[in-house]
Amino acid sequence: MKLYDLRSDTVTKPTAAMRAAMANAEVGDDVYREDPTMTQLEERAAELTGKEAALFVPSGCMGNLIAIYVQAGRGKEVLTASSSHIIGHEIGSMAAIAGTLPITIEAARGVLSAQDLQGRVKRGSYDSATTALVAVENTIGGYCYPKENLIGIQTFAREHGLNIHMDGARIFNAQVATGLPVSEWASYADTITFCLSKGLGAPIGSLLCGSRAFINEALTVRKMLGGGMRQTGILAAAGLYALDHHVERLAEDHRHARMIAHSLQESGAHVDMEGVQTNIIFFTVDGVEAPVVLQRLKEEGILANTEGSVVRLVTNLDISEADTQAISSIIERLQLGRMR
Ligand SMILES: Cc1ncc(COP(=O)(O)O)c(C=O)c1O
Repeated sequence: MKLYDLRSDTVTKPTAAMRAAMANAEVGDDVYREDPTMTQLEERAAELTGKEAALFVPSGCMGNLIAIYVQAGRGKEVLTASSSHIIGHEIGSMAAIAGTLPITIEAARGVLSAQDLQGRVKRGSYDSATTALVAVENTIGGYCYPKENLIGIQTFAREHGLNIHMDGARIFNAQVATGLPVSEWASYADTITFCLSKGLGAPIGSLLCGSRAFINEALTVRKMLGGGMRQTGILAAAGLYALDHHVERLAEDHRHARMIAHSLQESGAHVDMEGVQTNIIFFTVDGVEAPVVLQRLKEEGILANTEGSVVRLVTNLDISEADTQAISSIIERLQLGRMR
């Protein structure tokens, strides 16, 4: 039975052409900052995000942690949505390692507005912490932040002396879905991370981008966390290949997601259609627990994930048009709405 892996866009494997680029990469010792391919990637990331500088990190988690470590740090507070990745899926690293206190805010889809931040900024007194940072995630659950919200948050942050970090793990999906360039999305934040190892299909790595002064500090923290690596040009070559060849094609993932979402509706599932803006689909089946739906799909060769009580499917580079059609047929045949 053929397996269709829709658990995440992190499951993709490097293509033959990407592996060839990796094999041929010019390399040097990146802890000495002597890897020419890595330098090229970091300069490219800075240019794409419109920031002064960029730093390669092994993972999105490390990029987010370093951003918080440098811009907030011990005893400071970060305002963020309660459903954000830094809260739910990063092992509490901001508290455990950076010593930062997350102040979580309930918000529909995890999308914050300036209003959500009102009254939450602490200046620090004899017994209270100081708020230092607002952290937003874009896309969040595949949903693109409304630009107006980011503009409002930025105005608020400036008025209150706060920095903004954007977890832009899937910011290229936002660019392709909305037509707004990554540089514009990034302009609403002081720092941004984006991942090479998700929709872009590289095996490893993220880029943390910001001012030169910020990146200089980030470099020290990366080393402290054990993230200084040597001949990283091999990884940078994969990243450069991904940026050259795998950005525009994200539109295919988005189209595949819409096709699958329609099939789920045909099959009787409840789909958050408004949320299917990029490559992520959330759905439920009346009266059936998410793990039961997951198991049923698995029996038919479709691998999915759960997020709380909801089932999640993520289209990706390794799912072709033909695969999408096959997945859609399976889903329609299953008549999920009658599972109960
Ligand atoms: C929104 C978001 N941020 C950060 C990360 C962390 O990336 P990594 O797995 O490279 O640490 C992920 C991973 O799935 C993510 O979805």
